[in-house]
Amino acid sequence: MCGIVGYIGSNTAADILLEGLTNLEYRGYDSSGIALNIDGKVQLFKAQGKLQNLKNIVQNNYAEISKSKIGIGHIRWATHGVPSIENAHPHTCNCGRLAVVHNGIIENFKELKVKLEAQGCTFRSQTDTETIAHLVASKFAQTKDLTEAVRLATKEIEGAYAIAVIHQDVEGTIVATRRNAPLVIGFGEGENFVGSDIPALIQYTKKAMYLDDNQIVTMTADSVKVIDSDNNPVALKIENLPWEPVALSKMGYKHFMLKEIHEQPDIVRNVLTGKLSTSDEPVILKEVTLDREKLKDLSRIQIVACGTSLHAAMIGKYIIEDFCGVPVDVEPSSEYIYRKTITDENTLVIGVSQSGETADTITAVRQAKKKGSHILIVTNRPDSTMAREADSLVPVNAGIEVSVAATKSYMAQVISFYLLAIYMAEVKNSMPKEELTDLKHELVILPQKIEKILTNKDEIQKCARKFSSFKDFIFVARGINFPTALEGALKLKEISYINATGYSAGELKHGPIAMLDDSMPVLAVLMKGKVYDKILSNAEEAKARNARMIALTDSEDEKLEELFENIIRIPEISEILSPALAIVPLQLLAYYIAEFLGKDVDQPRNLAKSVTVE
Ligand code: M6R
Repeated sequence: MCGIVGYIGSNTAADILLEGLTNLEYRGYDSSGIALNIDGKVQLFKAQGKLQNLKNIVQNNYAEISKSKIGIGHIRWATHGVPSIENAHPHTCNCGRLAVVHNGIIENFKELKVKLEAQGCTFRSQTDTETIAHLVASKFAQTKDLTEAVRLATKEIEGAYAIAVIHQDVEGTIVATRRNAPLVIGFGEGENFVGSDIPALIQYTKKAMYLDDNQIVTMTADSVKVIDSDNNPVALKIENLPWEPVALSKMGYKHFMLKEIHEQPDIVRNVLTGKLSTSDEPVILKEVTLDREKLKDLSRIQIVACGTSLHAAMIGKYIIEDFCGVPVDVEPSSEYIYRKTITDENTLVIGVSQSGETADTITAVRQAKKKGSHILIVTNRPDSTMAREADSLVPVNAGIEVSVAATKSYMAQVISFYLLAIYMAEVKNSMPKEELTDLKHELVILPQKIEKILTNKDEIQKCARKFSSFKDFIFVARGINFPTALEGALKLKEISYINATGYSAGELKHGPIAMLDDSMPVLAVLMKGKVYDKILSNAEEAKARNARMIALTDSEDEKLEELFENIIRIPEISEILSPALAIVPLQLLAYYIAEFLGKDVDQPRNLAKSVTVE
């Protein structure tokens, strides 16, 4: 949530900051700002709304602005105070000589504000961030040392933060630090960068170092020094980032979401690489360190996640229970952390998160860790805060996902759960070998089936056009595809703002059926298998209430033509693996509906890509 970028070097800082903010725009987009040092004076430029508004301001003042070779920038997702120019970062102190950008939440900001106001500080915004500006400025007045001022200020701040600071009395220097919010340093030749996430700097350098909690970096164009909170020097651990800048290009697609949906066949291949070579060999999960004997004896598994990752986790529950016979509970992280959970050293706790920075899930796994559980993290970001909590890791290898709506990362998580469940079943010897071999073979050929869906989207587009004007939408499924219905509904509601809900088809008649009439589309996920006939009966009941029926199916059954006015057909697949295929048309349906409605597909209102606040 929110994005930070900082630059010091010999190039025009504003260009680099705006480029970085563009690449971070998926993290929040209700206001933005930059602070530059122009002719020895710190100056702020801020705009409400999309980043383009800030770009226009910069353009209109470019002659002046382009003189600056140092600056910090921020893109905001509001937590304290409405989106407005006053509340947009950077924030400054009374004298205006210092500027600060901040991600996270300062929990004791009210107490600090009272203290600082008593000392004469005048607050101009409703943000918690402004307290940092006044606090660092007051420490700087005492020490005349910006690094020390930041260090002393962080001793008084409670909460989660990544911050970057400049001060006009300390020219050519950026000081930055973090606690429970990511921050990465980028190293260039005669220039250096800081960002809250890799996309902020990947265009310029692949040499980077992740700061740990409470470390403070002081950078000039030619030097980078890191200390810990006790002023001890920290050795630089520079690594080569595996990311390619091309990941941040739409590659000719209209939106990142569409590009990312189309990347899914390759994502499946990536996830399988090195873990599943042929259907005859066992699954290899190198970073799962849980002792095999302990794994055999596990009494329970708990999975915590949020949003789309929670839906992937629900599929994980289904297959792990089915393959391994171990009870699995799945719970939204935000619920798990506020109750007395039965978690102990015989419980495996799995955290699932695309970003690895979701605050609720981080808290949940930390709580479980304290109780002695082995922590396994399934994430797209092995460099994330959550991954650092892990005893075992399953990296999902989906590459950078830019669109706020998660698609390819969901696919990668789901495939990772199949691999994990097979791995566990092989260790426990809990499933017939032939069944596992068949499933592994199906996984290997899954990308071709996804490709078939992606090359034949006519029916999905037709359906999207026809139903885009409806105000409500119901998705129903049963068994292993119940999470598919939930995820299909989530995709539709988050990018089109249509009131879409997923139900277990069997639950329809226990309440939701009351809503059905000819203004309600009901999409049934109807994959061949155990519950096919049951869902068909549920669909008949909905049809009898005049609902507008749509089927998503791998069946050629002709009687479906009478019951459904639109049928989206997908390649045949075993029921157990069907969620990995059935989700693709639902992602496309949501995309095309939102696109017909002219919505901002990649940056839906009120949302942000990673939710780093509870
Ligand atoms: O990064 P995470 O997977 O932990 O994020 C959890 C949710 O915020 C996320 O899955 C969200 O629901 C999706 N972006 C929706 O498409």
